Amino acid sequence: MTPTKIVILGANGQVGYELQRSLLPLGEVIALDRTQADLTQLDNLKQTLIDLKPNVIVNAAAYTAVDKAEEEQDLAMLINGEALKVIAEATKQLNALLIHYSTDYVFDGTKTEPYTEDDTPNPINVYGKTKLAGENAVIGSGCDYLLFRTSWVYSLHGHNFLKTILRFAQEREELSIVDDQIGRPTWARSIADVTVKCISQALDRIKENHFTSDLYHLSSQGDTSWYGFALEIIEQTRQKMLYNLRLKKLAPISTDQYPTLAKRPANSRLCADKLENDYNVLLPNWQHALTACISEYRD
Ligand SMILES: NC(=O)c1ccc[n+]([C@@H]2O[C@H](COP(=O)([O-])OP(=O)(O)OC[C@H]3O[C@@H](n4cnc5c(N)ncnc54)[C@H](OP(=O)(O)O)[C@@H]3O)[C@@H](O)[C@H]2O)c1
Repeated sequence: MTPTKIVILGANGQVGYELQRSLLPLGEVIALDRTQADLTQLDNLKQTLIDLKPNVIVNAAAYTAVDKAEEEQDLAMLINGEALKVIAEATKQLNALLIHYSTDYVFDGTKTEPYTEDDTPNPINVYGKTKLAGENAVIGSGCDYLLFRTSWVYSLHGHNFLKTILRFAQEREELSIVDDQIGRPTWARSIADVTVKCISQALDRIKENHFTSDLYHLSSQGDTSWYGFALEIIEQTRQKMLYNLRLKKLAPISTDQYPTLAKRPANSRLCADKLENDYNVLLPNWQHALTACISEYRD
């Protein structure tokens, strides 16, 4: 039996970092950061992948600066779109399996219900457009793939909403947070753990010749707004007395009161039923995952 060799791209990101540990039970894990596999250096990138000969490539690298992308469209498209053509080509050439992540921001947010995989994407910002280009590159490549759209990713590692709120709550007495954008906060650890379960099943299905490449929504259960997420972060942190928070007032505001370079969808809830049906995996409720994440904090 060929041992499983897995290459992670974007190993220093929130998801990439968690994947390094979660993937270990599956085989040899080669974790590459930006210095070892740069998604802007397309020829080198392809050669690196071909030389390593993995059975599985997990791409956790992405241009994720949503506002900055409005001013760096070409760079964002290169990393989130063009590089995916190259990664998918290498995956096909190696007869490997590609795992790639996309975003809730491929949708315009006008739907009143959670988005399913059958809904038509209509990105309203550059980041969403570049991530959609990446999805299409993977889907059109003919390689074996699992494409996971996830949302509102947080972790104790890296830059994210959880860490920003914790920092501000230590520095400031008042904070105003947008309350009219709703979504599903998803812990990077949950994404990594579900990815492992899916890869394991996918490799078995490939061996048995009944694997189907597909797109799945992968996000926590339960909905909230950014304000609701911030409130829960503050309450859970206070209960655990982990940080010395100066914050006295957390106020809900509307999107109009907090202008940003990139527009955000008002509703970016992803329905993960298809993933549960096809792979029998269920992500935790977002508050429970947040508790588990926060409990790992060490000063
Ligand atoms: N963050 C979210 O809220 C969110 C929401 C929905 C979907 N997603 C998707 O989920 C996936 C994982 O996101 P994440 O939150 O883990 O992102 P992240 O924490 O921002 O990590 C992205 C990683 O990509 C790396 N990267 C950027 N440019 C690169 C390049 N040119 N070459 C190689 N690596 C490069 C970064 O390297 P450095 O560490 O060197 O900067 C970073 O380690 C992405 O596909 C993202 O689009 C994220």
